[in-house]
Amino acid sequence: MMKILFVCLGNICRSPLAEGVFAHLAEQAGRDHEFEVDSAGTGGWHVGERPDPRSIAVASAHGVALNSRARQFDKKDFDRFDLIVAMDRDNKADLLSFSNLSDARREKVRLMREFDPQANGDLDVPDPYYGGAEGFEPLYQMIERSARQMLKAL
Ligand code: 4NP
Repeated sequence: MMKILFVCLGNICRSPLAEGVFAHLAEQAGRDHEFEVDSAGTGGWHVGERPDPRSIAVASAHGVALNSRARQFDKKDFDRFDLIVAMDRDNKADLLSFSNLSDARREKVRLMREFDPQANGDLDVPDPYYGGAEGFEPLYQMIERSARQMLKAL
């Protein structure tokens, strides 16, 4: 069983969507027994909250249910998970700024868009929080492309 943690800033917009989409694709592929997925935020402002209504709506429009509650990333997550997938380079830098990380722990941290076939060198899933609801369909597409390729690669 591979344990994957998706990480963004607030754990209410991007990473809950990535968690839900990846789980959905794994289930569709008959591979859900291979993975355990979770998500977390580097920040703690939204701990305990359901995902942003715009993420819930766009996921639902694509047949994906989001069931997470926000939590803050904990240093112990480096040992609990096999793969830690950051949504943007700031999230990754924040994760790698924990002190005394062994190489084995650092190497678990990847970027979501490393798996995006259409990334064209742009490795960030942009923070959609302060934008409008219309930003969430392109966000969904970017996350789905990346999650699909990630599933293939694993
Ligand atoms: P997320 O979006 O990192 O994709 O969950 C954000 C949610 C909340 C905030 C920032 C980004 N915030 O500043 O509260």
